[in-house]
Amino acid sequence: MKSQDKVAADYVLGHSQPELERLVHQGRFFGELTEIMLLKAGLAPGMRVLDVGCGAGDVSFLAAKFVGPEGTVIGVDKAPEAIAFAQQRAQSAGLSNVQFIAADLADFQLDGEPVDALVGRLVLMYFPDPAAVLRRLLAFVKPGGIVAFQELDLLPSPPPEIMSHPQCETYVAAGTRINQAFARAGIDGRIAFKLGSIFQQAGLPAPEMLAMQRVERGADSLIYEWIAQTTRTVLPLMQQTGVATAEAVQVDTLAERIRQEAVEKDCTLITPPLIAAWARKE
Ligand SMILES: C[S@@+](CC[C@H](N)C(=O)[O-])C[C@H]1O[C@@H](n2cnc3c(N)ncnc32)[C@H](O)[C@@H]1O
Repeated sequence: MKSQDKVAADYVLGHSQPELERLVHQGRFFGELTEIMLLKAGLAPGMRVLDVGCGAGDVSFLAAKFVGPEGTVIGVDKAPEAIAFAQQRAQSAGLSNVQFIAADLADFQLDGEPVDALVGRLVLMYFPDPAAVLRRLLAFVKPGGIVAFQELDLLPSPPPEIMSHPQCETYVAAGTRINQAFARAGIDGRIAFKLGSIFQQAGLPAPEMLAMQRVERGADSLIYEWIAQTTRTVLPLMQQTGVATAEAVQVDTLAERIRQEAVEKDCTLITPPLIAAWARKE
């Protein structure tokens, strides 16, 4: 065991190029919901922001829009591949106020002055003790600074009737397989509901919270690719944990099969809730 295993565990999704591209697609899909959180949390021009577990950089890029050219955003991720990709994206977009650093949050040290805001999306779920990580990161936040995190609620057996109506069986099966693989891998899929207590255990005041879901229908929705790309990334975990075989999943045709069924039956599909929590450090 490494010394940092107390707060950080191995990251199960990996950082292959398709996974980094999935993060970009997912960032586009959930971007508006994150913008709502950043707006409500109070991100404003000129702020210095730390985005932890930044992956391909999508939350950092959203934060950069809020803080403007006078502000700065620092994205941190332990995967050098993700950081190189995020840096490349920042360069192509001509963004000079966003910088990316490869570091593990278990031992990351922030250079320079503390930040006005600490943000993160879909990252606390990968830590066995998320409150310990958050408490550690709070040392880098100014008193009065913003803390805002978003996590998905991944029920191991989501009731099919809350996922789609009329029922889209292929979508329900795909979503359930993902959630079960996470659960069997020991990842806390209910972390979104625990954000309030995690904030308080870390020493923050009780946060404001909001649950947001995407509601999708029609042939052009991004939801089919989102669920299929996520399935592709999680497939090795599904196989290891006995949730499903590659033959049963048929990932290459999954997006199209869900799209076809949803369009034929005129289904409305709902994503799992993305729960946001935000507070100010006292
Ligand atoms: C699901 S991705 C989310 C990326 C990004 N926040 C987004 O929403 O697009 C989670 C990211 O957390 C990073 N991560 C997981 N454990 C970490 C750790 N101990 N230190 C730094 N980053 C970590 C992973 O490398 C991965 O890029």
